Amino acid sequence: MELPWTVAAGNASGVVTALANANIALIKYWGKKDPALNLPAAGSLSLVLDALQTTTQVSFIDGPQDELILDGRPTTGKAFARMVRFVDLVRAQSGQNQRVRMVSANEFPTAAGLASSASAFAAMALAVSQLFGQQLSPRELSILARRGSGSAARSVPAGFARMYAGSQPDGSDAYAENIPDIPLNLYAVIAVASAEPKKVGSTDGMEHTRLTSPYHSAWLAAVDKDLSVCEDALRKGDIDVLAQVVEGNTLAMHANAMAARPGIIYFQSPTLWALEQVRAMRAEGTPVFFTVDAGPHLVAFTLPEHVEWVAARLATHPEISKIITSGVGLGARLQGA
Ligand code: PMV
Repeated sequence: MELPWTVAAGNASGVVTALANANIALIKYWGKKDPALNLPAAGSLSLVLDALQTTTQVSFIDGPQDELILDGRPTTGKAFARMVRFVDLVRAQSGQNQRVRMVSANEFPTAAGLASSASAFAAMALAVSQLFGQQLSPRELSILARRGSGSAARSVPAGFARMYAGSQPDGSDAYAENIPDIPLNLYAVIAVASAEPKKVGSTDGMEHTRLTSPYHSAWLAAVDKDLSVCEDALRKGDIDVLAQVVEGNTLAMHANAMAARPGIIYFQSPTLWALEQVRAMRAEGTPVFFTVDAGPHLVAFTLPEHVEWVAARLATHPEISKIITSGVGLGARLQGA
């Protein structure tokens, strides 16, 4: 099989630059069955967004420690430790021990809390595996990216992706792959809420929900049905069914997190306002539906000819500081490949 990244194949002494884009789930991942291996308790379904891109450059360095430069700033602390643990996986797999300098930049505001770990770990997985001379298959790369962040597995394939929860204890069948032949040209309109979100990261939020929410098992039990309804509606290009299943799945995820003790509330007032706007626009005949991740920003999905109108309407709230619009993006790739 021809791999999309063999063109600029690993250069054991040089510099490798990889790109990956963030993805937004239509059917959400919320709950792990194995936190150490980052194994999801259920599948999920997403699309990669063209406008949210991370570029990561890696090279070997002499010295006792890895280095991480994030958006131009040398980075230590938790973010650094997490990235070093991730690179350790590749060092162990390749039987090599060199230290790595990692320079990673997001083309979107990280502070906005927009799925940056997905593009960061997908790009890092490709860059570092290539640096250490590994030629991973798309499936192997998705599995590696998953170890950094569950949703990163879905930023390896292009376009729409289906993530499998898998059944193997070692996670060898928990990966994402492209869903081919989707006729819909979906666009995302992201309403970035300006209020500083009260941060409960996804890992802590999922674990707290699993341990304390009385709704968690009901949430997990509903995901498989949502996945097949969503995939079928995508294939048929049926926006009405998509709106029901995607909004329903989002609200169920948030209801589950809100029912934890104490409850986790990611919605803020602009989120609720935007949600009502989306429903009002749909009632008026615009094909549009929403989702919300572990933060206050609402993502509306619509068709190309309605992007401008949806963006203009969502921009009218004083606490929505920015609107980002995006088409569907590419999978993880090497620069110049
Ligand atoms: O990949 P993580 O651990 O950041 O989790 C992602 C969680 C959600 O964004 C809320 C849902 C999803 O499926 O992307």
